[in-house]
Amino acid sequence: MSLTRNEIIEILKSPVAQEGTSFSDTDNSLFTAATATARALFNSTVFQRGLIEFSSYCRKNCHYCGLRSSNTELLRYRLTHDEIMQAVDNAHALGMGTIVLQAGEDEDVNPHFVYTVVRAIKEKYNLAVTLSLGDHPDDVYRLWRDSGADRYLLKIETSDSDLYSLYRPGEHLYDRLNRIETLQRLGYETCSGIIIGLPGMTAETLTDDLLLLSSMGLDMIACGPFIPHPQTPLRHAEQGRLVESLRVTALLRLANPAANIPAISALDSLSIIKKNEGRVLALNAGANVIMPSITPDDVRSRYAIYPGKNDPACTGHAAVKQLQHQVQQAGFTLSSQAGSSMRRTFRAQPAI
Ligand code: 5AD
Ligand code: SF4
Repeated sequence: MSLTRNEIIEILKSPVAQEGTSFSDTDNSLFTAATATARALFNSTVFQRGLIEFSSYCRKNCHYCGLRSSNTELLRYRLTHDEIMQAVDNAHALGMGTIVLQAGEDEDVNPHFVYTVVRAIKEKYNLAVTLSLGDHPDDVYRLWRDSGADRYLLKIETSDSDLYSLYRPGEHLYDRLNRIETLQRLGYETCSGIIIGLPGMTAETLTDDLLLLSSMGLDMIACGPFIPHPQTPLRHAEQGRLVESLRVTALLRLANPAANIPAISALDSLSIIKKNEGRVLALNAGANVIMPSITPDDVRSRYAIYPGKNDPACTGHAAVKQLQHQVQQAGFTLSSQAGSSMRRTFRAQPAI
């Protein structure tokens, strides 16, 4: 399937059946085509990544994010090496094939601390390790790659450089794009993505996001809806729309058949969604990865990027088991493999 820019804009602007979880015939055909594309490459396999959010401190002040440095109401935490390793044990026991180490840009985390944690994970288990730790100098990225880290997740958030700088004060999109290129040169499997539905984003912006992401040779692409956080400047903005996130997921799959595409947990924080339903809908729109939070129970809800993130109803041991059950009930096969990028061996051409 090959689509022009105007055709994508038309899909993104097409009428919505009703605001909820039933979709128009056009949307359903789009989601079916995307799922068929995913199934052709992955069968019905869903890869599982255990997300360990080890520090909620952040030096940045992004307008959309609850971890922003100006949010003085947030009770911050930082896990020790042993606490992270305990979470890794839990993730392994739950069948995760990858550990994702995520944190805000915490200036008090020494790069060598991350190095030691990655080494310890690699020595103990045959698990892939993804880092999601924001902006750092090239030599730090190199050090972490040398520790054995396999992947790095760094989102562009939007392809609109004005919106990027508006919502990420003092930051420029071209710096982020350069960092992603550096990560690719260092041999990381590289993931990027966007937030859908930030104020000021249009169907045209989203289309350009899609085209840019699809041209970057990414191994994984993540997109999820914006959820307004009450302690941020965007507290009164509207939340992103479910249907828009699913359309973008499906279009990304069609344009990037072999990429890993996660069913983002923010989908389950939308007000119209029932427990875990959002992620299952994304799997039925072409996603092939889930990334449940395995952060320890006592701090998990404090990793409050947006409200509902790490809601006890959607996270924790029992909730991960329930998500796994729901994913299987929906006809998918859970895998405990690393689910490494197929693009390494199979360079698919974007269809868009
Ligand atoms: N809603 C949805 N996603 C958000 N992120 C940050 N704040 C929000 C929000 N309010 C996402 C960004 C960031 C990742 C850590 O979380 O994409 O890269
Ligand atoms: Fe920090 Fe990332 Fe949140 Fe920005 S989006 S404030 S860099 S954690």
